[in-house]
Order: sequence, then structure tokens, then C-alpha cells
Amino acid sequence: MLIKQPNDIKSSEITPEPIYRQRREFVQAAIALGLLPAAIGRTQEPRQVATEDSPARKPPFPENGKLADVAPWPGSLDVKPSAFEDVTGYNNFYEFGTGKTDPARNAHTLVTRPWTVTVDGEAEHTGTFDFDDLIRPHPLEERIYRLRCVEAWSAVVPWVGFPLGDLLQRFKPTSRAKYVQFFTLNDPEQMPGVRYRVLQWPYREGLTIAEAMHPLTLLVVGLYGQVLPNQNGAPLRLVVPWKYGFKSIKSIVGIRFTETRPATSWNMAIAGEYGFYSNVNPNVDHPRWSQATERPLGGGLFSSRVPTLMFNGYAEEVAHLYTGLDLVANY
Ligand code: MTE
Repeated sequence: MLIKQPNDIKSSEITPEPIYRQRREFVQAAIALGLLPAAIGRTQEPRQVATEDSPARKPPFPENGKLADVAPWPGSLDVKPSAFEDVTGYNNFYEFGTGKTDPARNAHTLVTRPWTVTVDGEAEHTGTFDFDDLIRPHPLEERIYRLRCVEAWSAVVPWVGFPLGDLLQRFKPTSRAKYVQFFTLNDPEQMPGVRYRVLQWPYREGLTIAEAMHPLTLLVVGLYGQVLPNQNGAPLRLVVPWKYGFKSIKSIVGIRFTETRPATSWNMAIAGEYGFYSNVNPNVDHPRWSQATERPLGGGLFSSRVPTLMFNGYAEEVAHLYTGLDLVANY
């Protein structure tokens, strides 16, 4: 397994908080007065991280097309991935509509450059960072993982990315950082679905710090050797292979280290059906359907179902994270 050593963010690269706030307040006031388009608000203060010690990936990271320098990951599943057309054509991304084909049809309006990610909360280094600078130091791997949606469909996807923990370490989380929360972009100009209150926007998710630092937890920038299509969460999404797919939040613009358990979108919407942990578990049914089996994408609606595996087949790697935890109460 390729594990990258974390890079430090130099203190000289960090904008002092008062200046950052002043600029932000100025931009927000200008947007409110109609002097600036809203989309500009999130692109004003991107900063570079880890420049000198960043290896050679050339800027800018391609916005679409083939990804270079992707190493195969030895732990990949040894099975044939699902068809590219299924993985990129049958999606959940409610910001672009609630139908399975809506994201592929509508997500072309998502503007993925410039793109910034704001990191805040319980960490020594916080701020707003440019996407290309953020990912440049990380060697990319292709990892073939199972994806199991809580709705009981599944896929096998060759993701391209790097361990989330390697990025998080660079911000030096404090000892109070017990959880990590993630936020998706929330822009009605680009995302027609957020005009409807099917969920409280922005979409948000969370992990315990141990889950976030687990070497299987992946930050994803591509699939099938290509830059991530918009409908799959461009330019940056999470993939947590042992949890139901809704934990794998798309199009991330915010990462927050927190001391207490953060709010998560589906739990906020229907707490009795969607828990914080949401580990794939064939023994704990959803209140409205069985989780014992799943329907692999590509076989049609009436294709034969296959058994769902505990922790989606990753029990050996992750079961220790939940020792002593009641997995029925903590669904
Ligand atoms: N992230 C955001 N921001 N919005 C969403 O609606 N849907 C989730 C997850 N991430 C969702 C999201 C669900 S329910 C699933 S199953 C996966 O994305 C689906 O990922 P895929 O469309 O790439 O297969």
C-alpha cells in the first residue's frame, strides 16, 4: 500500500485570521449589495499549501480527461468493475435532482474550477485552500472498491484518489478533534436540486476521527482512470467503502474538525432510518426494507440479488473500530 507522509503547512502560508475575516466580510457585503456575483464569494481567498515540498504533479490538475501517474493499489478487489455507463449514469446526487438519471443529465452546470475547500475547527492549520494546491502533494492510487447504497443497489468502482487521513494530517488536528464533518457546495445557480427542500442544504456528512484516518477512507478525484465526472461528485468526494453510500459525500467545499458528533444530512432528515454510523450491515434492516441482499448495477431492475456482506466485505480491516459498540442501536 502506498502511504504518503503528511506534509506540513508552513505558518508563513497562512493568512492571519482577522485579515481573512475582513476580506470575507467585505466579499459577503458586496454580494449582498449585488456588486459581486454570489459564485465569486467562495473563490476569493484560496491559498496554497505545501508548495516547496510538493512533488511534481503539474499544475493545473486536469479538469477533465485522463489522469496521469496513477498507481494500482495492491488491496483492490479482484473482480470486474461495473460498467462505466452504469457508474456514471445511475447516481444519487440530490443537488441535481432526485431521479437516478438526473445527475448525469443536469450536473454539467457544476463549475469545478476555480474550486476551494475551507478547513476549520479543531486543527492548528485552518483556512481556504485552492483545490489543485490541496491535492498536488498526494500520489494518486487506483482502488477498486465495492459501493453499497442504503437503497440496496451496489457497484464495483475503480476510484482514483488518496487516503483522506494523509490530507487531514497536514492540518494538524488538535487533541479535541474527535470527529470530522464535510460539506458539499450549496449553490442554487449551479445546482437546481437545492431549490427544493428535500434535504437541508448544504449536504453534510461526518465520521469519527478514527474512521476518517482509517487507511481505507479515500478522497476521490477520479474513476476509471479519468477525472471524476460532475455527477459522481467532481472535483473532490469522499469514499468510505464499508459504509452505506450516502456517507460518501460529493463535491466537497468544507472540512471541519469537531469535538462533538456533527450533524449529518440523512440523519437530520429521518433519524429513525439513517444513523450516524451507517455501516453496511446485512443483519440490521432498514425500517422499510431488508438489507440482507443487494442488486448489483448492470443487471436490470429484476436481476438476481446477491448477499450483502458485513461492513460491505471490509470487516477484517474495520471491525475493530466498533468493538463493544451495539451495532443495532448504533445503525
Ligand atoms: N453527496 C451529495 N452531496 N449529495 C447526494 O445526494 N448521495 C449519496 C452519496 N453522496 C449524495 C452524495 C448517496 S445516497 C450515494 S448512494 C452516493 O453518493 C452515490 O454515489 P454515486 O452516484 O457516485 O454512485
